[in-house]
Amino acid sequence: MEDDIDRVLVDEQVIHKRLDVMAKEIRQDFPGEVLVVVVLLKGAFVFAADLLRRVPRMLEIECVNVASYHGGTESSGVVSFLDHKLPEVKGRKVLLLDDILDTGRTLKAVVDRLLEEGATEVKTGVLLAKDKPHAEDVAADYVGFYIADEFVVGYGLDYQGRYRNLPYVGVLKTPVS
Ligand code: IMP
Ligand code: MG
Repeated sequence: MEDDIDRVLVDEQVIHKRLDVMAKEIRQDFPGEVLVVVVLLKGAFVFAADLLRRVPRMLEIECVNVASYHGGTESSGVVSFLDHKLPEVKGRKVLLLDDILDTGRTLKAVVDRLLEEGATEVKTGVLLAKDKPHAEDVAADYVGFYIADEFVVGYGLDYQGRYRNLPYVGVLKTPVS
């Protein structure tokens, strides 16, 4: 698996240090309230597990399965909710976590749904944000790292379902398109 990696973009220690800082910001922004955290599967599971263990607050963690890539390396533009049931968020503050902000369609679609369902506030956090104009007018409130507009894997991010378990974020050897 490691042989397929051309270069490491963000190494494990750097990720963990950054998570300490992001967790502190989240702790300070939500003092004392019970927060609903919505984790977008599958990409955000590693990020969420490492980040949320650094947030000693009363959290209600829910996972929602969405897909926008359908196996390729370009966002299909259609965000499918693979689960039809969203957590109960009426009157609640929500922190939405995803692995990466690319076109922004996923975050936008889910934020809109959560607000429709009556969430009073939705903050968003991503491990990575691609440094490019996002198709949708969205920005994440918490961003781990801004990266160039290239396809990355690891730390939850996949190529055709693989590489999610790499402990770092890297770029594949064979150019994928
Ligand atoms: P968006 O809706 O275009 O912002 O895409 C977000 C989703 O696409 C993320 O949750 C990822 O699952 C996937 N994605 C976007 N860029 C990459 C990448 O470079 N590597 C792996 N998955 C990606
Ligand atoms: Mg994915």
